[in-house]
Amino acid sequence: VSEPLSRDRRRLRILAGLAAIGVGAPIAWKLAERPQPPSGTPTPVDFGKLRYGRLLTIEWERRTVWVLRRTPEQIEALAQREDQLLDATSAHSLQPEACRNRHRSLRPEVFVAIGLCTHQGCPPALQRGDEPFAEFLCPCHTSKFDLAGRVFANGPAPANLVIPEYHFGAGDVVVIGRLA
Ligand code: FES
Repeated sequence: VSEPLSRDRRRLRILAGLAAIGVGAPIAWKLAERPQPPSGTPTPVDFGKLRYGRLLTIEWERRTVWVLRRTPEQIEALAQREDQLLDATSAHSLQPEACRNRHRSLRPEVFVAIGLCTHQGCPPALQRGDEPFAEFLCPCHTSKFDLAGRVFANGPAPANLVIPEYHFGAGDVVVIGRLA
């Protein structure tokens, strides 16, 4: 039976995962410092033509960023497997404060995240599975994330997928990056 990780060990694992995807400073951070969600050049993404249940992938600040348009059923399903998640409330994960909610987004329908695993930075893929329980599967060491990027407890990834700063523009536009 594995022992629960101490707070500092868990934090070190999370920081190592963040460093692997190029978020913030390297592991030499003091444990007391709290990392900030990635910001950077504001980049508009038009998701007007994105069908429900589909994923749009862009490059932003040399990272892969996803925009997923969730169906009402997928949003509802987020409440149903929380007992299997490592950090269902995103208390130990990195996202803008306004996204610390069940759907981990500013609007339930639109999910924005850095598309890199918090274990060692590999790119997970969207697996459709039994709708509405699609999920993101990392092929490297089989970590799984739900459609809010929350990690399932039975894989090695120590934290939920990282969510960058973003806001909505006019119409169906989401702007990745911090407001100037
Ligand atoms: S890099 Fe994703 S599980 Fe290891």
